[in-house]
This record gives sequence, structure tokens and C-alpha cells, in this order.
Amino acid sequence: MSKPHWRPAHTSDLPAISAIAAQIHPDLPERPEVFAEKMRLYPDGCRVLVAGDEIAGYGLAHPWKQHQIPPLDRFLERLPEYADCLYVHDIAVLPDRRGGVARAYVTGVAELARASGIATLALVSVYATRPLWERLGFRAVAADASLQAKLACYGEGATYMLRDLAAT
Ligand SMILES: CC(C)(COP(=O)(O)OP(=O)(O)OC[C@H]1O[C@@H](n2cnc3c(N)ncnc32)[C@H](O)[C@@H]1OP(=O)(O)O)[C@@H](O)C(=O)NCCC(=O)NCCS
Repeated sequence: MSKPHWRPAHTSDLPAISAIAAQIHPDLPERPEVFAEKMRLYPDGCRVLVAGDEIAGYGLAHPWKQHQIPPLDRFLERLPEYADCLYVHDIAVLPDRRGGVARAYVTGVAELARASGIATLALVSVYATRPLWERLGFRAVAADASLQAKLACYGEGATYMLRDLAAT
């Protein structure tokens, strides 16, 4: 079988994206229309992992402001006028397709950020994935009280992390 690869997500991928999200993130549910809004607002950051003839994962990212995180399962409404980071909302891949694919997605998103004049990637690490993101160049940053409160909805151990693209 051919190596899994990332391609831009299309509206027709939404059922597959929602099914993977439900399987991988049962405790962090989000509505398909919330995924769809990100694809509409920032299609360049929304990609699916194609393995053979199936969708085996997705990655969603969009411009945002550092130290701010959009609440889960809420509409963004609009992108910030002066974004200073690309925020990786989520990457989820079916277990048997993992291995090198998060790195490939993040490399693509970093290229996108640089091409857009954005020098920082941001994300919230969940499920003890912090060492994985550190391996990809992200660093945990101290969260103020407002950010801490927002992190709470991502579960215990959720960590806000940034990657400085100028440093890598
Ligand atoms: C997160 C996820 C997408 C990672 O996919 P993946 O294909 O396994 O990731 P990669 O292999 O590209 O890993 C990136 C790097 O982290 C490393 N890594 C993986 N797990 C690690 C761990 N537990 N500790 C340290 N490094 C780790 C990898 O070796 C790789 O480094 P390398 O390229 O130098 O070898 C996948 O595990 C997943 O879908 N998990 C469930 C959903 C989830 O947690 N999403 C993230 C929400 S924040």
C-alpha cells in the first residue's frame, strides 16, 4: 500500500473527519459544523491523511493570537485581523497509521506559516503528548489565569505550547 500522505481537506471529508474525531477524542466532542467552519475560514491549514483509499487522520490549523485558545466545539466566527501564530487545533490519526505523520503535518503547517509571515506555531497538548510536541520543537509556556481557565476544558494536564519558527 502507498505511504500515507496529507492532502487539503474537502467538505466531502467531513463524515470521515467526524468519525475519526469521535473515535480518538470521545471526551472532547466537537460538532461537524465546527470542523466545517475551520475548513471554510482557513482551508490551507485543514488537511486529511490519505492511506490507500481511506481517510486515516486529519489536521486542523488556523491563524490566531498567541496565549489565546478558542473554546472547544465553538465557532471561531472570524480569524483575527493581526494573527501572530498558526494555532494547531488538532491532529488525530488512526493508531495503525501513526509514525512520522504528525511531523509531516507540522512541517507543512510551518511552511504555510512562514509563507504567511507568521513566525510562531501554537497548540494545546493533551493526553500527555507534551514530549512528542517537544520533539517537534514546541515548548511549554507559562499560562496566565485566563489561559489556565480555558485550558481546563481540555482535561487534566493540558499544556499550552509554542514553537518559534525563527529558532528552527
Ligand atoms: C499525536 C499523533 C497525531 C502523532 O502522530 P505520529 O505519526 O505518531 O507522530 P510522529 O511519529 O510524527 O511523531 C513526531 C515525533 O515525536 C516523536 N514521539 C512520538 N511519541 C513520543 C513520545 N511519547 N515521547 C517523545 N517523542 C515522541 C516521534 O518519534 C517523532 O520524532 P522523530 O520524527 O524525530 O522520530 C497521534 O499519536 C494521534 O493521533 N494521537 C491521538 C490524538 C492526539 O493526541 N492528538 C494530539 C492532540 S494535542
